[in-house]
Amino acid sequence: MKKGYLFSLRGVYVLDKIIIEGGRRLCGEIEVHGSKNSALPILAATVLTGDKCEIHNCPALSDVDAAIQILRHLGCKVIRDGHTVEVDSSVITVSEIPDDLMREMRSSIVFLGAVLARTGKAEISSPGGCEIGLRPIDLHLSSMRKLGAEITEEHGRLYCSLGKSLHGADITLSFPSVGATENIMIAAAAADGTTVITNAAREPEISDLADFLNGCGAKISGAGDSTVVIEGTKKLHGTCHTVIPDRIEASSYLIAASATGGRICIKDVIPAHIGALIPVLSEAGCDITTSGRWICLSAPPRLKRVKMIRTMPYPGFPTDAQAIVGAMLSVADGTSVIIENIFESRFKHVTELMRLGAKISVEGRMAVIEGSKYLTGANVVAPDLRGGFALITAGLAANGKTVITGTQHLDRGYEAPEKVLKLLGADVRRINENDGTEKQETRQLAENVGKPAGESAEDCTDRHSQEADDRCNIRRGK
Ligand code: UD1
Repeated sequence: MKKGYLFSLRGVYVLDKIIIEGGRRLCGEIEVHGSKNSALPILAATVLTGDKCEIHNCPALSDVDAAIQILRHLGCKVIRDGHTVEVDSSVITVSEIPDDLMREMRSSIVFLGAVLARTGKAEISSPGGCEIGLRPIDLHLSSMRKLGAEITEEHGRLYCSLGKSLHGADITLSFPSVGATENIMIAAAAADGTTVITNAAREPEISDLADFLNGCGAKISGAGDSTVVIEGTKKLHGTCHTVIPDRIEASSYLIAASATGGRICIKDVIPAHIGALIPVLSEAGCDITTSGRWICLSAPPRLKRVKMIRTMPYPGFPTDAQAIVGAMLSVADGTSVIIENIFESRFKHVTELMRLGAKISVEGRMAVIEGSKYLTGANVVAPDLRGGFALITAGLAANGKTVITGTQHLDRGYEAPEKVLKLLGADVRRINENDGTEKQETRQLAENVGKPAGESAEDCTDRHSQEADDRCNIRRGK
């Protein structure tokens, strides 16, 4: 392969490096983008409508590019204008999704319910995505079977058809899988009769998908609770929908700021969606205020350890924030423990963190993190999306230069992270791995109210803090 490039069905990607000169406090205000994990199932669900849908606040991420590529392959007309994606699914020409497109991301599996419901058949293969565990799709397939699908597997391809029709069913999930809940909701929205999902996932992205589908004329109640009821209808139509803010992106910047002893405010976040992170950051010694759609954080110069974090389905502590909070705790005072309950291989970034001097031991699903006073910059490779941001967090907190490769993983879930971090005062650059030129404009960044970069840690005190506090006070109506 030619050095500095990654060949993919979506085009040729220039491989970049993110270079961080660590040791600067993150200070200022930023605006969070739309949720990746909401946008992807919503884009898949547009296929059901046979009409035009306008999706606002869609983040500029490579996973969204992949979803658009699948929609276009199916025959949809898709227009993207900044963070708005218009999908016209009046004509669907095929029911199969090629292997390469399926492999681009995990969420491609959610197209199964949409394509099956729309065309009566679907041909797909197992999805790709981050390698953080086995990630089987048995719950998706057994649920589709309950809704009337006949599924056979040959040569790695899944052939799905409908016996008579797609019909409602009572489905009890053995685990509250986010993707399986979404797939069922999408297919059942257009099925004959009523579907009841018991032990459904309760993530905010499930409620957002239900809001979108209800906007299209679906009849879904209970989304966000463990029991979701979907009354199928044939009368779905297009709609306009605004994707909810990305709670994991917001969490990532809050955690990164904490690791640097920073003070930041994040605009356009729904604080209730990061309810499980707030007590963890408080236990680490951070001062947090929330109001309306703002959250402000002020971290102490040295964080305290956090006794125990267990990842759980929502509303528990999110697995997607686990790696990042682990990086933060590697500079805290004392020993912290993390138990990963959702994915079995979600500590791949740990060996890379250890290159920066982090003292972490992993046994099975448990990581024991002995906080160090200092980390030191190193060359590291992002193993997956959230592991990549964990390395950014550690690099920001470390002394000296950290060079992160494998940035294509970060592009799946973070829109222009280097720009957001620069706005918060970080010394971070993204350069082309091949020719060493600095990247000026990667992806479109939402309007950002962050303060200019360039202040040293010492300067980053009263002005930012006061402004951030004022913002919270204004929102609190003081
Ligand atoms: C979604 C999120 C991901 C997040 C995860 C858990 C998207 C695009 N991704 O992934 O960021 O980390 O939820 O909050 O929304 N499982 C099975 N069989 C199945 C399906 C899942 O055993 O058929 C297992 C998985 O292997 C995993 C657990 O269930 O151990 C949770 O997976 P699931 O909730 O389905 O996660 P995703 O939808 O893949």
